Amino acid sequence: SFLGIDVDTSGVKAMLLDAEGRALADASAPLTVSRPRPGFSEQTPDDWWTAVLEAVDGLAHRHRRQMAALKGVGLSGQMHGATLLDANDAVIRPAILWNDVRSANECREMEESLPSLRRIAGNIAMPGFTAPKVLWVRKHEPDTHARIAKVLLPKDYVRLHLTGAYASDMSDAAGTLWLDVAKRDWSDELLAATGLTRNAMPSLVEGSEVSGRLKRSLCERWGVRTPPVVAGGGGDNAASACGIGAIEPGAGFVSLGTSGVLFVSNETFRPNTEGAVHAFCHAIPGTWHQMGVFLSATDSLNWLAKLVNRKPAELAGMVTEGFNGPGEEIFLPYLSGERTPHNNAKARGSFVGLSHLSDARTMARTVMEGVAFAVRDCHRVLSDAGTTIASLIAVGGGSKSELWLEMIATTLGMAVEVPEDGDFGGAFGAARLGMIAATGAAPESVCTKPKIVKTIEPRADLTAAYDDQYERYRALYPAIEETSR
Ligand code: XUL
Repeated sequence: SFLGIDVDTSGVKAMLLDAEGRALADASAPLTVSRPRPGFSEQTPDDWWTAVLEAVDGLAHRHRRQMAALKGVGLSGQMHGATLLDANDAVIRPAILWNDVRSANECREMEESLPSLRRIAGNIAMPGFTAPKVLWVRKHEPDTHARIAKVLLPKDYVRLHLTGAYASDMSDAAGTLWLDVAKRDWSDELLAATGLTRNAMPSLVEGSEVSGRLKRSLCERWGVRTPPVVAGGGGDNAASACGIGAIEPGAGFVSLGTSGVLFVSNETFRPNTEGAVHAFCHAIPGTWHQMGVFLSATDSLNWLAKLVNRKPAELAGMVTEGFNGPGEEIFLPYLSGERTPHNNAKARGSFVGLSHLSDARTMARTVMEGVAFAVRDCHRVLSDAGTTIASLIAVGGGSKSELWLEMIATTLGMAVEVPEDGDFGGAFGAARLGMIAATGAAPESVCTKPKIVKTIEPRADLTAAYDDQYERYRALYPAIEETSR
């Protein structure tokens, strides 16, 4: 059997697969985020480890026979989080997470001091990434910076506990802004820009390669007979792509979670820094991927739902009744600033075009449309980089709303596929990477697509209306940009 562990922001999920790679069982343990100041977002790394123990203990207790025969483990996790360790592996300060935007000034400084940054990293310095967070620490907490012996990503901190090895995989490492993404190696220049050297970095392996073995003490705790290999794994997006079978060039997914992601797999490294595209290594050797990331997807509808005192699903249901395309109102979903395509941590959300007729229902429709337009913005900048998306599977909590997917299909002008019920996310993908590392199976034979149960086609009768509305949506951003400094 094979085990996948996903260290997500909201909790840890552990998933057990049988010898054929079918999902057998899963277990979760929740995590909380601390927001000590506006724009700050932190977690205590030891909480990740406690949650991993809780989730895997549960699985080991309920599935003794399968755990005894565990052959491979894979890791997935929230990307970018800066976990700072001293020379004794002690955590120096709370980890600064992917959705923490305190380091906007440091991003500017990095770009100014190192003009070749975008060329080497293949990405813009954005506050979500790891390197600018460490530069912030150097400036604001110099004593902390002086004690840094290793910087690890969240799942790699868990790996240290599991195996004793300092290692990362290429897909997650690409999100640090310290990786030369084309070369799949750390960049001394990028590291120097934040006062670090290679010594502070873990060693690099491919997502489907072996990074170490599970410690004997943990094998005993979980009743595992022979220490299984632990694969490199992936950042949660690349790992999810392995779970949903998006590893062939052009295969993509759209994820509507707290944040939104438009992901596509590429055979070559294909950056577009102008459009704030994330151009990262994939978790499969010799492949890359692009991503547009927008920060408030289901979070936008959750925000409105709270405001009007309803459940998000209830709001989405209200929109479905008598739905007939866009109206006057427009919503810009920049509640937490935006990455793709604007790279503006200070941007804020906006409702435009309100009238006496605007009510909870029309505003909910407008929020869903705003999120669909954010997906289209991502699609536009991926296309600008020469990418054609061949297929698109919908995942994440928001994909439960068929209407939302219909809006996305219509504004993109392409079909969106709905997979059969199941969890094809990071934990599943990570377990698959563990399976490849343990068995040497070909990635394409393991990372297959789930059964597609429905294909949501664009609404031809609404295409013109949504094209028109998208142009109005795009025309508004310059005003936001001007007023958000
Ligand atoms: C990707 C990103 C998020 C996190 C969420 O760049 O910041 O998708 O990985 O866990």
